[in-house]
Amino acid sequence: MLLLLLLITVTAFGGEVLSLVRPAHMQLVRENALPVVVSADPTKVKELIVTVVKESFPVELAPAPFEVKELPAGATVDRKVLPVKPGKKFYCTHVKLDYGINEVRVVAVLKDNTTEEEARKVYLYHPLLIPYKYPPKEFQPRFFHTDEQESRCAACHDMSRPPKPKKNQPLEQLPPCVECHKPVNTKNAYKHAPSKFWLCVFCHTGEAGKLNRRFAGKTKYLAPEPVGDSCYECHEEKLEDLELMRFHHVPVLTGKCNICHNPHGSDERFFLRLPKWELCVSCHEDKAFRGHVVFTITGKPHPTRGVKDPRFPKKELSCSSCHNPHHSDYDFLLYEPFRELCASCHSAQ
Ligand code: HEC
Ligand code: HEC
Ligand code: HEC
Ligand code: HEC
Ligand code: HEC
Ligand code: HEC
Ligand code: HEC
Ligand code: HEC
Repeated sequence: MLLLLLLITVTAFGGEVLSLVRPAHMQLVRENALPVVVSADPTKVKELIVTVVKESFPVELAPAPFEVKELPAGATVDRKVLPVKPGKKFYCTHVKLDYGINEVRVVAVLKDNTTEEEARKVYLYHPLLIPYKYPPKEFQPRFFHTDEQESRCAACHDMSRPPKPKKNQPLEQLPPCVECHKPVNTKNAYKHAPSKFWLCVFCHTGEAGKLNRRFAGKTKYLAPEPVGDSCYECHEEKLEDLELMRFHHVPVLTGKCNICHNPHGSDERFFLRLPKWELCVSCHEDKAFRGHVVFTITGKPHPTRGVKDPRFPKKELSCSSCHNPHHSDYDFLLYEPFRELCASCHSAQ
């Protein structure tokens, strides 16, 4: 055991003053809670400064059909200062990213006030936002959960893999994921139950799906793509709709629930990736500019936002006031047949 520890220490530090262990370089990231792990020589370093700096998108693309909140190139996205303690060689933290390309820089301030620096580029992907859904191909997933990489952490962290949890049973004890992935849950205003209660391995079984077979065996915790079948294990009512209803929305039919929903949670209700109207027009761009349903005498199209839904005075009218985002028995995924739909809001008056 002692020999093993010694070995880990030697291979992990190799006498280096500073070494950025994670993230990997040119890494494609899909969750905005990036672990940063640094090894530093405490006899030489007195402070570690981790900063995330936004870079511009490499090519000009047509903008999204609505305003996207993003930071300008060069802006500091996140910053963490880690004081170095005697005898402590590993420093672990988390940073936030902005969409697109970010540079994660770690500066070691040495005791003689000189500095050493290491940096990595990472790309935060968004499946709906232009241009961020088009990552340059140099950015690829660089998986962490392999025996080799995990062996560097095992001295301090439990790296065992819990069995797949049962869906309606609370866990007897929290899995080791909590130690390293807390922000996956804490950052979201609305948390999806299986993520909130740390049933991570329910979805991250390590098995690939039809669309990510090339990643089979590359990490212990792969999520299948498409993820739909995992969702149906708990949301049986949605599987029933899929089997019984006549019309299906293409991204639902293909099981890509995670295009619209973040499986962990989000600041939007129903864990949506964007507010409802923006969510729909990010794919149905024409609906942002061209009205549909009716054109009044004045040429004004039917509102799709910015007014109250007459049926539910507290709700804003949106695309999903008329359309079921998943399935329907009626043309155009309407909630009700055409005439009844109109009447549901435009009754007697
Ligand atoms: C020398 C012991 C040690 C080693 C080795 C170590 N860690 Fe940690 N790690 C800790 C401690 C202690 C914490 C709790 C937070 C703290 O006190 O820094 C932690 C916390 C973390 C966190 C959460 C940070 C946060 O923002 O809350 C992550 C992520 C992490 N470790 C990843 C890793 C990874 C990945 C490795 C292996 C490459 C690793 N650690 C190796 C001691 C270690
Ligand atoms: C020692 C800290 C640590 C522990 C414990 C840990 N993870 Fe991770 N995990 C990481 C780091 C670091 C990454 C790499 C993140 C990155 O760079 O994007 C990662 C990445 C992942 C990924 C992305 C796929 C991959 O392999 O890169 C998934 C999914 C994941 N972890 C799930 C889990 C689950 C589920 C558990 C608990 C069973 C767990 N992790 C426990 C540190 C940890
Ligand atoms: C309901 C299914 C589900 C649950 C539960 C779940 N995940 Fe995920 N997770 C996914 C899917 C699907 C992805 C793929 C990326 C996406 O859709 O954003 C993902 C992506 C990730 C990633 C990012 C991988 C990358 O490519 O950057 C990490 C890290 C991660 N999950 C960790 C966790 C942890 C930790 C938990 C438990 C707290 C958890 N997940 C629970 C479905 C789930
Ligand atoms: C392990 C079981 C489990 C899995 C797997 C699962 N969910 Fe859930 N989900 C739940 C539970 C429990 C709730 C909370 C119950 C509720 O509020 O209706 C919930 C709630 C939701 C909600 C919010 C419902 C509401 O009315 O607020 C959405 C949206 C959702 N899940 C989508 C998904 C998607 C998409 C997937 C696949 C990526 C998925 N779920 C996978 C158990 C699961
Ligand atoms: C095209 C985007 C989109 C896709 C793809 C999608 N959803 Fe949804 N989902 C939504 C929207 C929008 C809502 C909010 C509904 C509302 O406004 O009433 C929602 C609500 C939900 C809810 C809670 C309310 C309800 O209808 O029960 C669940 C559960 C849910 N989705 C599960 C899933 C599952 C499972 C999948 C994959 C099979 C999926 N969703 C795919 C957009 C989507
Ligand atoms: C990921 C992209 C994507 C998102 C997000 C999306 N859709 Fe779709 N939608 C499609 C595709 C693909 C089709 C099928 C091709 C087509 O008819 O254009 C489609 C078709 C439709 C149709 C026509 C169905 C028919 O039977 O003719 C309606 C209505 C619709 N979507 C409404 C919505 C609403 C409402 C939302 C938001 C909750 C939404 N879509 C979000 C991709 C998307
Ligand atoms: C007031 C109800 C209502 C609202 C709100 C609404 N739609 Fe529609 N939508 C309809 C009706 C009715 C149709 C049937 C065909 C038509 O009249 O254009 C339709 C047809 C569609 C179609 C398929 C035919 C086509 O024109 O491409 C899509 C896609 C669509 N809507 C997307 C959206 C999106 C995206 C939004 C939000 C920006 C939205 N709808 C808001 C009622 C509505
Ligand atoms: C979810 C509720 C809802 C549904 C369903 C709906 N509408 Fe509307 N409609 C509205 C609201 C809200 C307004 C805006 C009223 C205002 O500005 O005071 C509106 C405005 C209109 C107007 C313009 C009237 C004016 O005074 O400017 C027409 C015409 C119209 N709707 C026709 C339809 C038709 C046809 C359908 C069925 C395809 C339909 N609506 C379905 C909520 C709805």
